[in-house]
Amino acid sequence: MQLFLDTANQAEVEAAVRMGVISGVTTNPSLVAKESGDYLARSKYFCQLVNGPISVEAIALDYEGMLKEARELAAIDERIVVKLPLTEDALAAINVLSKEGIKTNATLIFSANQALLAARCGATYVSPFVGRLNDIGQDGMTLIEEIKTIFVQFGIKSQIIAASIRSPRQVTEAALIGADIATVPFKILQQMIAHPQTDLGIAKFAADWQKRQ
Ligand code: G3P
Repeated sequence: MQLFLDTANQAEVEAAVRMGVISGVTTNPSLVAKESGDYLARSKYFCQLVNGPISVEAIALDYEGMLKEARELAAIDERIVVKLPLTEDALAAINVLSKEGIKTNATLIFSANQALLAARCGATYVSPFVGRLNDIGQDGMTLIEEIKTIFVQFGIKSQIIAASIRSPRQVTEAALIGADIATVPFKILQQMIAHPQTDLGIAKFAADWQKRQ
C-alpha cells in the first residue's frame, strides 16, 4: 500500500519527502484554506517535489464549472489529479475528463455504490472517508473492505484511497484489507514512526554505550 500525505502544508510535504515515505499528496478546500499563499503555485511545487500524484479539489459544483476548473488544474502539471465530490454532475464530469486523459479522484465517498459509480465512469481514484463514517457510528473500515471486494471481483482498475484517516491503526487495517493507498495527515505519519519501546531501546543503548570500559 502506498502512502499519500493529506495536507496542503509545504513544510509537512517537504519533511515527508525527505523521509522518502510518501508517493503522493491529497488536499481539499479545508486543508488549503488553512494555508496562506498561492495554492496553485504550491500544488505545482508539490508535483515537482513529490514526483507523484497531487490531488487538488475543484471548487465549482456544477458540471460546466467542474469541467472548466478541472482542465485548468490539469494544465498546471501532468501529475495533478482533479478531486471532485461524488454528485451526479461530478460523475458526468469524470466521464468526460477520463476520456480526455485527465486523472480524477472521486471524493467524499461514503458507500460502496458511490465507489462503484465513480469507478464505472472512469475515476482514477476513489476516496472513501473512514473517519467521518466512524463519526456517525458506522464502520469506515467495513466500507474499505466492501469496495475492495467489489473492485477485485470485477477487475476494476480505479485505485482505492483510504481517506479521513484518524489513527495509525487505521493505516494498518487499510493495508491488511488491500487499499491501494492510505492518505494520512502529518500528525498520523509522526505517530506511525513513534513507538515507546523504540525510545526506551535508544535510551538504553546510549546509556550502555556510556558505561563501556
Ligand atoms: O482525505 C480526506 C480528509 O482530508 C478528510 O479528513 O479528518 O477531515 O475527515 P477529515
